[in-house]
Amino acid sequence: MDTKISLITGVNGFLGRSVAKLCVNLGCRTFGVSRAKSNQTGLPIEYFSFDLSVAEQAEILASKIGSKGKISCLICCAGGIKELQASTRPYEAMLKTNFLSTVYSCESLVPHMRDDASVIIVGSAARYENRLGKISPYNCSKAAVCQYAKELQEKNPSIKVRLMEPGGIISTGAPQKNETHIDTIISDIQKIVED
Ligand SMILES: NC(=O)c1ccc[n+]([C@@H]2O[C@H](COP(=O)([O-])OP(=O)(O)OC[C@H]3O[C@@H](n4cnc5c(N)ncnc54)[C@H](OP(=O)(O)O)[C@@H]3O)[C@@H](O)[C@H]2O)c1
Repeated sequence: MDTKISLITGVNGFLGRSVAKLCVNLGCRTFGVSRAKSNQTGLPIEYFSFDLSVAEQAEILASKIGSKGKISCLICCAGGIKELQASTRPYEAMLKTNFLSTVYSCESLVPHMRDDASVIIVGSAARYENRLGKISPYNCSKAAVCQYAKELQEKNPSIKVRLMEPGGIISTGAPQKNETHIDTIISDIQKIVED
């Protein structure tokens, strides 16, 4: 059987590196991308440094990976909330980090995927929050991500698009309200990667 190719965006991050560990352990050929120059995961993955909120950079990534084989699973973990505090234009920052990085990853990479491939898009349960204020740009960007996931599925019926919307991700203890344990997310992703 062919070795499956998995690609994880935001691979240097908290969730991305756990997903990369899973994919390596499952025997996938594992590619990862983040903006930082180097692979910070400590894992034997093939690493690329690109800003996926820039369409041209996502296209270069796709051409590099496309020459290596068809992708079985794309897991979009690029995003997050870290840039919200520091930014003077929080809506722009959140739209780039969460929305555009997801859109350009999928638009560039889906043509290089197997017909029966899976795309996992990581949104956030925060988009259901009524709480406004500083976190609102993040929530708005995740609402946009959700809408995009629906469109991606409609435009590409043969691939399986799965939107995950975790609460605050924790790695120790039992989840409280609005929290999700990382083991739950990883076990859901495992089922999709193994499918
Ligand atoms: N952690 C939580 O509690 C939680 C809860 C719900 C949903 N989520 C969602 O889960 C995803 C992962 O969260 P996390 O906690 O792992 O975040 P994180 O630790 O901040 O990691 C995010 C990763 O995404 C990369 N990234 C951001 N923008 C990018 C871009 N334009 N191009 C390429 N890479 C980019 C970052 O790269 P650099 O490091 O190189 O900058 C970093 O490696 C995010 O979408 C987040 O919104 C997280």
